[in-house]
Amino acid sequence: MGSSSLGVTFSVPYEIAAVRPLRQTTLGEREKTLRASHYNTELVPQEMIYVDLCTDSGVSSLSTHQLAALTSANFVEPGMGLAVEGSRSFALLAEETQRIFGFAYVVATTQGRSAERIWTKIHVKPGTVVAGNMLFPSTRAHIEMNGAEVIDVIGDFAHDLNSNEPFKGNLDLRKLEAAIQEHGADKVSCIYVELSVNSCGGHPVSLANLTEVKAIAAAHKIPLYLDACRILENSFLIKEREAGFQHRTIQQIVQETCSLADGCTMSALKDLLVPAGGLILTRDKASYQKAIMQSFLDGAQLPGGSMELLAAALGDIFATDSYVTHRVGQVNYLWRRLNGGVPLVSPPSGHGIFLNVHAFLPQVAPERFPAEALAAFIYLTSGIRVTKGPPLAPSQVARGMNLLRLAVPARKYLQEHLDDVAEAILYAYASRNEISGLQRIEDSTRSKYEPAHFTQV
Ligand code: F0G
Repeated sequence: MGSSSLGVTFSVPYEIAAVRPLRQTTLGEREKTLRASHYNTELVPQEMIYVDLCTDSGVSSLSTHQLAALTSANFVEPGMGLAVEGSRSFALLAEETQRIFGFAYVVATTQGRSAERIWTKIHVKPGTVVAGNMLFPSTRAHIEMNGAEVIDVIGDFAHDLNSNEPFKGNLDLRKLEAAIQEHGADKVSCIYVELSVNSCGGHPVSLANLTEVKAIAAAHKIPLYLDACRILENSFLIKEREAGFQHRTIQQIVQETCSLADGCTMSALKDLLVPAGGLILTRDKASYQKAIMQSFLDGAQLPGGSMELLAAALGDIFATDSYVTHRVGQVNYLWRRLNGGVPLVSPPSGHGIFLNVHAFLPQVAPERFPAEALAAFIYLTSGIRVTKGPPLAPSQVARGMNLLRLAVPARKYLQEHLDDVAEAILYAYASRNEISGLQRIEDSTRSKYEPAHFTQV
């Protein structure tokens, strides 16, 4: 608890209303599990995991408001036809999203990637380019599937793992202008900006940078879209790090961020604390009409119960700043416990810790899968599950980077869990000479997209 002349500040803005019991596993059991999982922590079954840092997506705990919304949701209402406006669940969600993000139109989809699929089908033309800041692999894939090319215009700081530059997600304005000059404004389908850039360490984008990007976009009549799935954490880091925003509320910063964009795609599984859902937000009625139709054709409409869950979560999240303050505070706590002890990406992000695997395990050659080997060692010794996280961007691969992400699910773990994580990572570093690499088992019956099988070397 912190104290001030106004009395104490609560350290945690919720209490636990339902729990999932965890069984203490033994070293021998974990060894067996790891062997059965082919040394790939992605394949470890949930009942054998203590703390799961594989993702923060779709795994946060539900609030009592959300559970109440779920039980009162009108599941029999027609929410999945073309007449979504007639659905009570949709009306509730639309009212909440308009109030919070300020866009006139919303399309609710099943996931972030379905929102991207629909939006890029409508707005990304074959033979064009999209300028972006190290976009998430699903966004990149959808742009490329439409026959367009992604030009990465993120600042060079994004590749510097150690500097304390506060906004390493920022776009390099000179690179952006150069890309527009090179291809011609009419060949740039859009500028797509990811907030809290996941691939390089969850680094935020500043409002100053986004304002300049908007000015360039407007000057060339190019639409500006956001991948806003971590807008909450981005806004918190703006409040903390960007001059002039300390006295703004998170909701004000969210609204200011959205006011610069022509549209957003957004997975609701991260910052919006639901197990399913995505959003398309737009001011353009024609785009909305096309997106509604496309979501119907693609079978990507969000069911009514999930819409109510999402509307309830928006109420919880934006009621005060205390939720996001605690959420980012937990990630920051874990980062501080590890900083100085093990090689980490700096500065901390709002959703996860990123280990610099090359510096952690310099003796394990890249072709021996050092990140996967480190994850396997951490699981064996602690039961804590870490996986590689999103695939690296081409510019990271070209620089030979290798990161291991500890994604912290929101509203799920206690400080003791995070202390155990810190101890496990510090122990792995102290024992790093015991970690040898892995060898991939070649198996022609498995597709290259299935999780890899390894053996120890
Ligand atoms: N954009 C970003 C920045 C993401 O991190 C993700 C998913 C998506 C889009 C796609 O959203 O999963 O709802 O389809 N990231 C997850 C993760 C998978 O673990 O970081 P989705």
